[in-house]
Amino acid sequence: MLAWRFHQTGPIENLQPEEVPLPEPGPGEALVRIHYAALNPADRYLVQGQYPRAAKPPFTPGRDACGVIEQPAAAGRLPKGTRVVLLGGDTGIATPGALAQYAAIPEQWLAPLPEGWREEEGAAAPLVALTAWQGLVDRGALQPGETVLITGASGGVGTAAVILAKALGARVFALSRSTEKRQQLEKLGADATFDSEAEDLEKQIKAAAGDQPPSLIIENLGGPYLQRCITMAGYGARIMVIGLLAGLKSEVQIGLLIHKCLRIQGMSVSSYTAEEAQKAFKGIVETLQKCGDPWPIDKIFTPAQPYEAFAHLDSGPLGKVLVDFRK
Ligand SMILES: NC(=O)c1ccc[n+]([C@@H]2O[C@H](COP(=O)([O-])OP(=O)(O)OC[C@H]3O[C@@H](n4cnc5c(N)ncnc54)[C@H](OP(=O)(O)O)[C@@H]3O)[C@@H](O)[C@H]2O)c1
Repeated sequence: MLAWRFHQTGPIENLQPEEVPLPEPGPGEALVRIHYAALNPADRYLVQGQYPRAAKPPFTPGRDACGVIEQPAAAGRLPKGTRVVLLGGDTGIATPGALAQYAAIPEQWLAPLPEGWREEEGAAAPLVALTAWQGLVDRGALQPGETVLITGASGGVGTAAVILAKALGARVFALSRSTEKRQQLEKLGADATFDSEAEDLEKQIKAAAGDQPPSLIIENLGGPYLQRCITMAGYGARIMVIGLLAGLKSEVQIGLLIHKCLRIQGMSVSSYTAEEAQKAFKGIVETLQKCGDPWPIDKIFTPAQPYEAFAHLDSGPLGKVLVDFRK
C-alpha cells in the first residue's frame, strides 16, 4: 500500500509517499481502508521530532481519517464495510497513522460516520471538534449566553470552536489576521470578528463586549497572545490554553491575573480516554445537528503531494486540509 513515511526526523520534505507492507491488525484492532485523512499541525511537529511520546522513525503520521472497515476487530462491534471515523488514541503518534491507504486502528477509537455526514467531513472534524469540545464543554463548562473569545479562529480548532460555541448558544468573538477570513468566520457564525494584529485589539474587544466581556477564551496561539487574552478577559474568566502557533513562551502580568481572579488551564485532546472521546463525539454530533452547515474544508490534496499539502497548512487555510487516499 501507499503511505506517507519519514525515515529521519527533520524538515517536512522528509515525509515522502512510499510503498510499504499492509499493516497487520493486533488484538482489538480493525484494518481500515482510509478514504480521506486530514492534516494537523501536530503531524508536522512529529516529523520535526518535536512531539512528545512519538514513535521512532520510520513512521507514518496521521491522526484524523475517515474510511471503511476492511477487516473487523475480532469479536468487534463494527462489521466489515462500516464507514468509520478516527477519534484519537495512539494512532499517528505511537502507532502508524492514517496518512496511508490502510491503517490498523483499535476499534475503541473508531466511531461510525455520523448519519448525514460526508466522508470528507468525517476526516476533517473529529480531532479539531474534540479539541474545541474539551475547551468549551468538558473543561470550559460553557453556559448559553456567555461571550467566548477565540484566537486563531480561522484554523482547524478555531473554526470548530466557532461553530460549536455558536451552536451551544454563546456570543462568539473570533480573531484572524485576514480580512477575507474574518468575513468567512462571520458566515460560520461568529457574532463579531477582529484583526488579531490590531494594536488596539484590547480596546476594540472592550467596546464590542459592553457589560459582557469574554468569560471563556479558546487560546490557540500562545506567545504574546496569552497576555493579550488576560487583558481582554472579564472577571473570573477561564482561559483554555490549546496551541502555541505564535510562540512557546509568554510573559504574563501576574497582578492582572490575581486582580481578575482568572483561571488559565492547559488542555490536551490526548487526555481523553476512548470512552470519554466517544461520549464527547456523541455530544458534538448532536450539537451539530442543530446548525446543519457543512464542515469547513479548505483544500483536498492527492497522495503524491505531501509537501504541497503541508505548505498549504502553513499558509493559514480556513478550515481543514485533506488528502484523498481512495485511489
Ligand atoms: N491542546 C490540544 O489538544 C491541541 C489539539 C489540536 C491542536 N492543537 C494546537 O492548537 C493550535 C491550533 O491548531 P489548528 O489545527 O487550529 O492550527 P491551524 O489550522 O494551522 O490554524 C491556526 C490559525 O492561527 C492563525 N495563526 C497562525 N500562526 C499565527 C501567528 N504567528 N500569529 C497570529 N495568528 C496565527 C492563523 O489564522 P489567521 O491567518 O487567520 O490569523 C491560522 O489559520 C496548534 O498549535 C496545534 O498544535 C492543540
